Amino acid sequence: MNTVVSLRREERPSHRPTDFSRDVQAGLSAAIKTLPAKYFYDRHGSELFEQICRLPEYYPTRTEKKILRNHAREIAAIIGPDVEVVEFGAGAAEKVRLLLDALDRPAGYLPIDISGPHLSAAVAPLRRSYPDIAIRVVAGDFTQQLPLPAPLPQARARVGFFPGSTIGNFTPDEAQDFLRNAAAMLRSGGGAGAGLLIGVDMVKDPAILHAAYNDAAGVTAAFNLNLLQRINRDLNGDFDLDAFDHYAFYNPGQQRIEMHLVSRVAQTAQVCDQRYDFAAGESIHTENSCKYTPARFRMLAEKAGFRPAAMWTDEDSLFSLHWLALPQA
Ligand code: AVJ
Repeated sequence: MNTVVSLRREERPSHRPTDFSRDVQAGLSAAIKTLPAKYFYDRHGSELFEQICRLPEYYPTRTEKKILRNHAREIAAIIGPDVEVVEFGAGAAEKVRLLLDALDRPAGYLPIDISGPHLSAAVAPLRRSYPDIAIRVVAGDFTQQLPLPAPLPQARARVGFFPGSTIGNFTPDEAQDFLRNAAAMLRSGGGAGAGLLIGVDMVKDPAILHAAYNDAAGVTAAFNLNLLQRINRDLNGDFDLDAFDHYAFYNPGQQRIEMHLVSRVAQTAQVCDQRYDFAAGESIHTENSCKYTPARFRMLAEKAGFRPAAMWTDEDSLFSLHWLALPQA
């Protein structure tokens, strides 16, 4: 099966250059300058992120994989057989192997990602590894309500997979909107047994968090600064990358890591013929990475219509994997 679901023009995702330039223009014109974290992931940014995932200080990726491996049986038992796995923002589509290997007779895999061509390339090895699983890719922005292809006749329910604590990039309010949206999409599979398996980074010792976003090798700094490089390239910008510092810290009141790019000097940058002034020390807020206690995350999920039914964590309580059941509407 090689189905690519293409979307009509008005349903296309928001990564068109025009959206990028509009978002950059809006973010840099605000009194407190911001840039959306979703734009980190151009080709180089995606490579840098994969390097981050292998850093000794960056515990989330390896800890989540360990949780998936250590509790594979229990996870498979609670999810049940014959499901279609829907992955939100599939990227390289590698972690899902751990889930597909654990599940009992998975019927289908439906990865959603912004870049159709990248996604099709990423799932090619999966098709070879799992010839009995119906793999259908959906190109689109998973934060929007996307029309999904018809449920597979052999599938009992749709089960969402949202690993990596990507949900942390949303504010709690945005996270609730995402969860509501995901619930509607997962219910489109019909039948009972739908739910969402979601990885959520936990509130913990700020020193551990600080190290994870301030790695000694400087990869996270390069990842953050690459956003300015992307603006220079794609939007004809003239940012001086040496004139900005990577600055990441844990905000315990908001329970989130904040990443900023701080201007070292008073300077002016130009993007698409528009000038932006920076005072010395002024920042561009580039990312939030929200952390949750189990109780707070469960409350959020409940408000969005899910029934938190199980949670697994590692021995150091660094990362959590939640199974959120979806009661029939
Ligand atoms: C992909 C959003 C989960 O917040 O930890 C890693 C991105 N930023 N290092 C995270 C990120 C800096 C990552 N997420």
